[in-house]
Amino acid sequence: MTLVLGVDSSTQSTKAVLVDVDDGMVVDSRTAPHPAGTEVDPRAWLAAYDDAAGPLLHRAAAVSVAGQQHGMVALDAAGEPVRPALLWNDIRSAGAARTLVEEMGGAQACAEAVGSVLVASFTSTKLRWLRDHEPAAADRVAEVLLPHDFVARHAAAPGTRSFTDRGDASGTGYYDTAGGTWRPDLLAAALGHDAALPEVVAGGAVAATTQDGAVVAAGTGDNMGGALGMALEPGDLLVSVGTSGVVSAISPRPVADGSGVVTGFADAHAGFLPMVTTMNAAGILDLQARWLGVDHAALASLALSAPWGSGGVSLLPYYGGERTPNRPDAVGTWHGLTSTTTRAELARAAFEALLCSLADAVDQLIATTGLEPNRLFLVGGATRSPALRAMAPALLGRAVTLPPPGEYVALGAARQAAWALAGTADPPSWGRRSVEELAPPGDSDEAAAAEVRAAYARLRDRT
Ligand code: XUL
Repeated sequence: MTLVLGVDSSTQSTKAVLVDVDDGMVVDSRTAPHPAGTEVDPRAWLAAYDDAAGPLLHRAAAVSVAGQQHGMVALDAAGEPVRPALLWNDIRSAGAARTLVEEMGGAQACAEAVGSVLVASFTSTKLRWLRDHEPAAADRVAEVLLPHDFVARHAAAPGTRSFTDRGDASGTGYYDTAGGTWRPDLLAAALGHDAALPEVVAGGAVAATTQDGAVVAAGTGDNMGGALGMALEPGDLLVSVGTSGVVSAISPRPVADGSGVVTGFADAHAGFLPMVTTMNAAGILDLQARWLGVDHAALASLALSAPWGSGGVSLLPYYGGERTPNRPDAVGTWHGLTSTTTRAELARAAFEALLCSLADAVDQLIATTGLEPNRLFLVGGATRSPALRAMAPALLGRAVTLPPPGEYVALGAARQAAWALAGTADPPSWGRRSVEELAPPGDSDEAAAAEVRAAYARLRDRT
């Protein structure tokens, strides 16, 4: 049996899965936690890699590392971090993002240059923040890597040069996503001077070897790894309900959305991965359960006992500010509360709000890209909720497919490792395991859901 190792170096932990190349089945797995916070010493990720992947490595013929997108790993001439890495969810560089977009000639010009309108998540904005706030550290930067690049180089034999892939590179703000080349001029403009960048290696290529001679593939960003692990194809839409809501699709064409709603990333193969990200998703339900003093099972039962429309209660769930629509200073807004409003209606309103927000993201991705999805995959821990399952098809307005629970980012990395090992033009096709199709809505559900979306839109547009 030939095995490959897929690693997901995510925000919260490192997950490693050992996979059989013949059928993609996971035969073993391990995890190790990461330190909390939005700035982290990147060497902690190397220790977590050693902990999670180390004991599995000797069984693998190839390894690949996917990782959280965008993080700034700034290294000095000796290859040591000049400061802790700033992660994708660190928003201190929001002002730097606005400045850089202006310097690049405005939002549309920025999207055309790098694929996306820069926001605080992007690496280049963090480099500008470093230049402006910690100039002595900025001066010492000799090389800039992404989190996955840093871990993947560690996975390779000592002395291996740095490498990355087009998917993760497309989230830096100094990569021409449509053209497929670095823009060192944009890196220098952000940081204040030149710095080395990793070699961009193709998805199915051998990037390096480990000390023991196993193949190391290029790796990629976590969203691209997830798409590869799900075997997402053109015509598929992926809706992920996690800390944030992410709606993405494979596109054969690059996207340059000057409105900033759609980030136009590259995928881990030869296509593109346009994406809409919301900041409030599963947390809407967590908060509601806390407020009502119930667990998630009871929250779902309560919600299912109320009728569509939650007795006229609607919620705009932008509790932590929102990225889509772009309202960083927004707060949550409840509407339609009366003296007869019930706990069940409050519970249901939270589910309706979450799904309306995701439906807005789906609509915007489709409107901006012109893609015509024919399947919608819903993933994330919240999909375990019977209430979410019951309401999703009507509010998302299309058939909803639930893939089996799994570590799709680590699986995507494993698929890339198997691809590099095989040396084929395309990644291995492992087939999709028993998906679950959610029951389609009846006519009355469809009509009621349309009214819920209309009420949500009224609240959204006047708040
Ligand atoms: C995407 C993004 C997040 C991170 C999470 O733009 O910022 O999804 O990749 O790790």
